[in-house]
Amino acid sequence: MDAFIRGLPKAELHCHIEGALEPELMFELAARNRVELPFADVDALRAAYDFGNLQDFLDLYYQGMRVLQSESDFYELTRAYLQKARAQNIRHAEIFFDPQAHVSRGVAFADLVGGITAALGEAEREAGITSHLIMCFLRDRDEKDALAVLEMAEPHRAEIAGVGLDSAEAGNPPEKFARVFAEARARGYRRVAHAGEEGPAEYVRGALDALGAERIDHGNAALGDAQLMERLAREGVPLTMCPLSNLKLRVVADLREHPLKKMLERGLCVTVNSDDPSYFGGYINENYRAIARALDLERADLAQLARNSITASFAAPPRRRELLGEVERYCAPH
Ligand code: ADE
Ligand code: ZN
Repeated sequence: MDAFIRGLPKAELHCHIEGALEPELMFELAARNRVELPFADVDALRAAYDFGNLQDFLDLYYQGMRVLQSESDFYELTRAYLQKARAQNIRHAEIFFDPQAHVSRGVAFADLVGGITAALGEAEREAGITSHLIMCFLRDRDEKDALAVLEMAEPHRAEIAGVGLDSAEAGNPPEKFARVFAEARARGYRRVAHAGEEGPAEYVRGALDALGAERIDHGNAALGDAQLMERLAREGVPLTMCPLSNLKLRVVADLREHPLKKMLERGLCVTVNSDDPSYFGGYINENYRAIARALDLERADLAQLARNSITASFAAPPRRRELLGEVERYCAPH
């Protein structure tokens, strides 16, 4: 099974690039940029990755990303992620980044987009990995902050495919960002939103109705709402689920309780992703492996998850067809 997962061609649709910052690179950049980290070494930092909930994680995540300052820092971070992606046979990646967490520290928007896209372009040329960039609004900040990001992004319109919504979910309903998402839609951005990770099923509905979200990031809470489940199946709304993240942030107490298999069985377009791989103990293949073990998934289920990742992507139709062909050719002899 592990070898099958390793070779399976797949897309990753839910990875925060700042969450791919490995402790070793964090310390290297801290030294280079003279940023103090409140940890003695890499081991002490890793030992702190024991989270009671989403906010515990976010506190460390925002603290850690302060080491990212120059265009080349963002380039190195993204290149490191793409090397992992290549080794795990990710053929298409849609990467999130959090502009507000950087520009508020004085990083130029052009530097972060420049660094990330330089690495993405290189991975496409060298390894044939296609990609899109999705900028996320921090939902625990004001709507007007998010609108400012949309303006800042305007000179980079061609490099950014979509907008998303992340950070602390509880108490920050999607409706807060309805006008921002309407404006993003008018400007031609694709739209995704985190919902139903720590928040209720109602936030998933809100992401669809108030934000026009085309995909839901996580969506775990939908399982408890029969009508919503039916709607997600009927409308073919993809969910980008992240099993190891859910375990580490205690969204589920045990992976055997994870809703992914029930959702697959009910015809939802579920996908497997890593969320913040450096913090949650694994990249995409570790997520496939962990969920396959916990829920007794078969090869046919894993193949379906890989197909879903491609059909749910924002890749152009010819590229999606090409990647679906790769999955079929890979799976045929198995
Ligand atoms: N930002 C990075 N990872 C996140 C997650 N799992 N949920 C919400 N915001 C995030
Ligand atoms: Zn996420």
